[in-house]
Amino acid sequence: MNKKPVLEQSFWVDRLYRAVHRHEAVYSCPRPVWSAIEDTHRRILNRHIKPADSVLDVGCGWGRLLDLLPEDWNASYLGIDFVPEFIKMARADWPVNKFIVGEFFDELPKLKAGSFDWAVLIAIKPMLQENVGGEYWTQLHREVIRVSKRVLYLRYAIEDEGIVEVEINSGKKQKERTSDQKR
Ligand SMILES: C[S@@+](CC[C@H](N)C(=O)[O-])C[C@H]1O[C@@H](n2cnc3c(N)ncnc32)[C@H](O)[C@@H]1O
Repeated sequence: MNKKPVLEQSFWVDRLYRAVHRHEAVYSCPRPVWSAIEDTHRRILNRHIKPADSVLDVGCGWGRLLDLLPEDWNASYLGIDFVPEFIKMARADWPVNKFIVGEFFDELPKLKAGSFDWAVLIAIKPMLQENVGGEYWTQLHREVIRVSKRVLYLRYAIEDEGIVEVEINSGKKQKERTSDQKR
């Protein structure tokens, strides 16, 4: 499999400028497929994120998670991404919400332990595991679970069910696949 240089900002900027439709900057697929993926993610988020839950968006792109969160959600949000062009778009679309331009390992260590109810990672884990390697992901994962009480993993697939990672007594986090069917 050809590895993509996902840790280079220029890789994303290039994708953004080539994209005919905005979503192609992060994932190439026909528009109806993208809409269906967004609907799936809205359903999963609706099931888990409560109105007052704070959300950390790790690798937020242009902050489109804010479009997918439940309508009654009304809490604090922080989006982190190292591509200034994405964050410029995010700030234009969501002037009230907070975004930081920065590298994961520069920004996450600045956050206090457990400062967010949720970290939401859309397509971040597979991107890193497939293109960068397990060790990078392991270190990032450590930071993500340190700063958030729960983690929700979403991926670009219509049949996505989402994976939630929650703290258990031992301090370890346990993963559970979440199913729309159970709703
Ligand atoms: C597959 S895209 C997902 C974007 C967003 N989660 C979404 O679904 O729209 C991966 C994102 O991670 C960001 N990214 C990749 N490596 C990063 C790093 N080391 N630090 C900060 N952001 C990074 C990219 O700029 C890109 O916006």
